[in-house]
Amino acid sequence: MTKLFVQPNRILSAVLHRLKYSTAPKTESTLRINGADFITDDYTNVTPKILSYLDRNLHLKKDNPLSILRQRIVNYFYSSFTYRGNPTFSVYDNLSPIVTTKQNYDDLLIPLDHPSRVKSDCYYINRRTLLRAHMTAHQSELLRSGLDNFLMIGPVFRRDEIDSTHFPIFHQVDAVRSQRREQLFPENEDLHIFEPTFDPTKPHAFTNSISDPTKQSCHTLEATKLMEHQLKEHLLGLIKTLFGDNIKYRWVEAYFPFTHPSYELEIFYNNNWLEVLGCGIVRNEILVNAGPNHTIAYAFGLGLERLAMALYKIPDIRLMWSTDSGFLTQFQNKELNAEIMYKPVSMYPQCTNDISFWLPEGLTIHTFMSNDFYDLVRDIGGDIIEQVKLKDKFVHPKSRKHSLCYSIVYRHLERTLTQAEVNQVHKEIEKAAISAFNVAIR
Ligand code: DAH
Repeated sequence: MTKLFVQPNRILSAVLHRLKYSTAPKTESTLRINGADFITDDYTNVTPKILSYLDRNLHLKKDNPLSILRQRIVNYFYSSFTYRGNPTFSVYDNLSPIVTTKQNYDDLLIPLDHPSRVKSDCYYINRRTLLRAHMTAHQSELLRSGLDNFLMIGPVFRRDEIDSTHFPIFHQVDAVRSQRREQLFPENEDLHIFEPTFDPTKPHAFTNSISDPTKQSCHTLEATKLMEHQLKEHLLGLIKTLFGDNIKYRWVEAYFPFTHPSYELEIFYNNNWLEVLGCGIVRNEILVNAGPNHTIAYAFGLGLERLAMALYKIPDIRLMWSTDSGFLTQFQNKELNAEIMYKPVSMYPQCTNDISFWLPEGLTIHTFMSNDFYDLVRDIGGDIIEQVKLKDKFVHPKSRKHSLCYSIVYRHLERTLTQAEVNQVHKEIEKAAISAFNVAIR
């Protein structure tokens, strides 16, 4: 999962670029998505290939590992939090992925100049509408509807590099759990959620600050600490339910615009620390703007692919999308909590071809957006693209022309590709790159 929420002051320069991906229409036209028409504009960069994945809903497909994992996570929340035998969490797993920029960013206090908003990271339908980049985009809307404990599950969309762990669509589970004073401190009337200087009935008279690393200025330390303790216990409980009690883990301080304090949980897997979720105490402004003004809440977001790949030992993220029976039958008719260890059906050989080009005047190796190139490669090559990596870049000492070289790794998951077949796709990619970016193949 790519990090969207790097701390703004750690970014030296959020490069805002004007480069347009060639499939973006030059004149105004409409895009029909799920039966609705959208007017395109200079922000449109969603590709037909990406739109073709919209109705796949892997997280709801029986026997797909992502769906199995979704059910296990939902069950954990259903059984851990009940009132008189009934679950207190509600589950939303079928929300439309088409959201407004207000939902994806503004409701979550993500400022206009935040790096996560740039066109190169997200699939925009137009300036005001995009394919959600995280499930958190639905948080305010659900809070506004009166919900206090809920899970939001579905696919999210991010433009990205290509390799065995990155795919432009992946699935997230996001959650909010809210508590009123009486729920958080049932036995002690002297303990409060809010500092005495903060009047919850007049929230706008107070400027909430996050300059103290331990808490938001409106919250008491005891409420923050208790919520944080619950948050960590609940999430650790979930991870141990999935991976067993012996899992090695660590909490890392993090930054998200919509929570404070914020943390990431990492598990030790395959000799590496693997970040599996982000979480924190919801910024009080978000709750107040959406309605609730007497509660404190925690929230978290986790990536299903990462967890499923670690849990079932699935080596390549593209396998999640496989309709091959050799893959799917390994997850079929299994007990929900059964230990499943994926066995590779067969490893077909890879085929690597390089593509080198001169950039046209006006573009440099610093301003050329690799993500635009990755999308083009994926659009032409489809699922046989295993990886695209930047191999070399240089500036010619005499002509001052800028050159880039990418290696494209091709591999079919279900059969051997012939060199001739790969060459043909590679040629198509060259042609498309010439017309999209005006480059000259070397
Ligand atoms: N939305 C974050 C992401 O996509 C993950 C996340 C972090 C969600 C913290 C949350 C949260 O709800 O509280 O990286």
